[in-house]
Amino acid sequence: MTPRIDIDRLSAEIDSLALLSETPPPAVTRLVFSKEDQAARKMLGALFEKAGLEIRVDAVGNTFARWNGSDPARKPIATGSHIDAIPNAGKYDGVLGVLGALEAIRALQSSGFQPQAPIEIILFTSEEPTRFGLGCLGSRLMGSRLSPERAAELRDHDGKSLDELRAAAGFGSEPLASVAIPQGNYAAFVELHIEQGPILERENLDIGIVEKIAAPAALRVRFEGDGGHAGAVLMPDRRDASLGAAETALAVEHLVKSLGSSDGVGTTGIFKIKPGAINSVPFEATLEIDIRDTDHSARQAVEESLRSEIREICKRRHLLHEITTINSDPPAICAPALVEAAESSAREAGFTHRRMVSRAYHDSLFMALIAPIVMVFIPCRNGWSHRPDEFSSPSQIAKGVEVLARTLARLAS
Ligand code: GLV
Ligand code: MN
Ligand code: MN
Repeated sequence: MTPRIDIDRLSAEIDSLALLSETPPPAVTRLVFSKEDQAARKMLGALFEKAGLEIRVDAVGNTFARWNGSDPARKPIATGSHIDAIPNAGKYDGVLGVLGALEAIRALQSSGFQPQAPIEIILFTSEEPTRFGLGCLGSRLMGSRLSPERAAELRDHDGKSLDELRAAAGFGSEPLASVAIPQGNYAAFVELHIEQGPILERENLDIGIVEKIAAPAALRVRFEGDGGHAGAVLMPDRRDASLGAAETALAVEHLVKSLGSSDGVGTTGIFKIKPGAINSVPFEATLEIDIRDTDHSARQAVEESLRSEIREICKRRHLLHEITTINSDPPAICAPALVEAAESSAREAGFTHRRMVSRAYHDSLFMALIAPIVMVFIPCRNGWSHRPDEFSSPSQIAKGVEVLARTLARLAS
């Protein structure tokens, strides 16, 4: 059985979805529960229906589209990803794993393949942390890594709660507790994604098969000092909150470099100061820090040393501080049998491939809490992602979708 991927149809769908954006092309911005996100969900729903899939939507908007199998006793094989996009993103991150999964199913259908186990596409709500400050909201709830109580308290920048926003989007009739899925519900979860890094392109390979997903953590640190007139408060008298924050951002860099593994990374992507006037000493500063490593204990060592360094900086500078853990997650290990299944599928299709780690996080990180997982990567130009010029060619995409289709068929037979 050779699944025939209709790459023209898939490319046209990826292009149409990219137009449902708050920013003009080529940038894609699609905030969860925005009118663009709602339009994108509608488009996907219509495509799922056209392919004859059975649709279910849960209390946070995670959408399940199922191709029923011939054996009701078999557990479903799941695949999928997200369609929300960070501000000024590209059109492939997440979308490839949703529309690519649909194309994989359509290709299997037209090849005459009949699954024994059901094959289910999952469109996850809010993989990106843009709106609620926390990544992988839908899969986190599904994997019970986020309590419904804490989720209900999440608010966006305008102070609107998740509960209020999901209700306005039409998903609010059931409690958030109903989103959790028990371990063992799915026989496997396979996510297709662009690599978001340069390795496959550099090595001129078609396919990456993920063995491990790096463990992400995110901290919010608020520094409190004393404000005043930039001309009149003399240097010995200052308690400048922004300088404590600046030292902390540098500490993130040096701690990751000295304590992290070769996969360790640390980023201070949010730096806000108050009052934010050129002639006023900053009395408050807030940082948001993202730290990741495939080696969980190395990442924990970075986190611990950072906390003690912040204490030391604040003592020396006479600042107060408060640290909030936004998330602190373990890494995910892909199931060896699924890694082998994906690898055999790539080999069978005649594509070049290698095993690799995922340094970005994905919904797979949380699906790993309830199911065996594997991810299939395709190259993207210069490893670029989270930017408008993110690009994978139609032939690279077609290969990824073919490997996904073959893997799903193998697992559902
Ligand atoms: C996902 O978008 C990530 O930040 O890894
Ligand atoms: Mn992303
Ligand atoms: Mn993604």
